[in-house]
Amino acid sequence: MSDRLRVGIIGAGGIANGAHIPGWKDLGDAVEVVAVADVAKATAERTAAQHGIPGVYESYEEMLQRERPDAVSVCTPNKFHAPAAIAALAAGAHVICEKPPAMLADEARAMAAAAERAGRLLTFGFMYRFSPEVTAAKRYAEAGAFGEIYTGRVTAMRRRGIPSWGVFTNRELQGGGPLIDIGVHMLDSALYVMGYPEPEGVLGATHTKLGDREPGVAPWGPWNHRNYTVEDVCTALIRFQNGAALLLETSFIANIEPMEELNVRLSGTKAGVKFFPFSVFREENGTLVNQEAAWQPESSGYRAEIAHFARCVRGEAELVSTPAEAVKLQRIIEGIYRSAERGQSVSI
Ligand SMILES: NC(=O)c1ccc[n+]([C@@H]2O[C@H](COP(=O)([O-])OP(=O)(O)OC[C@H]3O[C@@H](n4cnc5c(N)ncnc54)[C@H](O)[C@@H]3O)[C@@H](O)[C@H]2O)c1
Repeated sequence: MSDRLRVGIIGAGGIANGAHIPGWKDLGDAVEVVAVADVAKATAERTAAQHGIPGVYESYEEMLQRERPDAVSVCTPNKFHAPAAIAALAAGAHVICEKPPAMLADEARAMAAAAERAGRLLTFGFMYRFSPEVTAAKRYAEAGAFGEIYTGRVTAMRRRGIPSWGVFTNRELQGGGPLIDIGVHMLDSALYVMGYPEPEGVLGATHTKLGDREPGVAPWGPWNHRNYTVEDVCTALIRFQNGAALLLETSFIANIEPMEELNVRLSGTKAGVKFFPFSVFREENGTLVNQEAAWQPESSGYRAEIAHFARCVRGEAELVSTPAEAVKLQRIIEGIYRSAERGQSVSI
């Protein structure tokens, strides 16, 4: 590897342009984004022109072969995460793959095995882990401030938040709806703070009652309800081998009060925590107290995640989000969808 990190981008849509490329560019001379690949050639060309990226490809296989990048951002729809990441790892690149890791647990396992085989790093775009709030919660947990965390609630609810762009409502390309798209962020953050306990079983339910109807109020633009093949809402109970349990609720569209609520609440034997805004709840000197951070740094989780990954590639830091965790997360998500389909709880 030369002094400069040579980076390739696979998939040149919203997250590549809005987060990954700016994140890599932020690192200045230490990094060069050498090429971008997108099945839509015009999209790749537009992105390359906008960011001054020299290499433009329709096929990521060709990009990997010709450019041999040191690191690759995988920013495609979920269906292509596993094949693109595995190809990049096999071509000798370290990979940061957007969330969710994949659509299925077996894909996440294959990605982890590919990283192991290639001796390369594989991590995922869980940028909430780099937020001041989740970072604070993790520090408190590691300091033992919460005691044993045994129960909690994971919320990623939107009242009217069906994306009218991209392929977020296409189950075949994404693997599901709000659970795999936004629920996955909050679930990952909760598990991170809990120390990623081993999951045991889940009971899940999904409902599609509104998204497949003619749109009414659509603050994010009218979506294509005829091609709406994902759940509106997912409700689940997740049990872990250590006895802990999490309740999860997530929606793209539901008749609820807030327009959007993304949050995690965890309860431990010594204290509880809410992530946003970061708050700690405990009993102290005979009084129930709520504690909040007086100040937290402003930070972009997206930029921080790329900067951290670059440091990991240089051997200056350890991955925060690992392939082994991704497999556990994907087992839970797949288990919830399987449970919802079967109408009964499943072991995972
Ligand atoms: N971390 C976050 O908060 C966050 C936010 C948005 C999206 N994402 C994730 O990023 C990924 C992409 O989302 P997006 O919003 O950028 O979608 P998008 O639709 O804007 O872009 C996806 C791009 O991938 C291209 N593509 C499709 N198949 C490809 C293939 N086989 N090879 C190369 N390119 C291919 C498409 O042509 C498109 O340009 C998804 O997995 C999504 O979950 C994460």
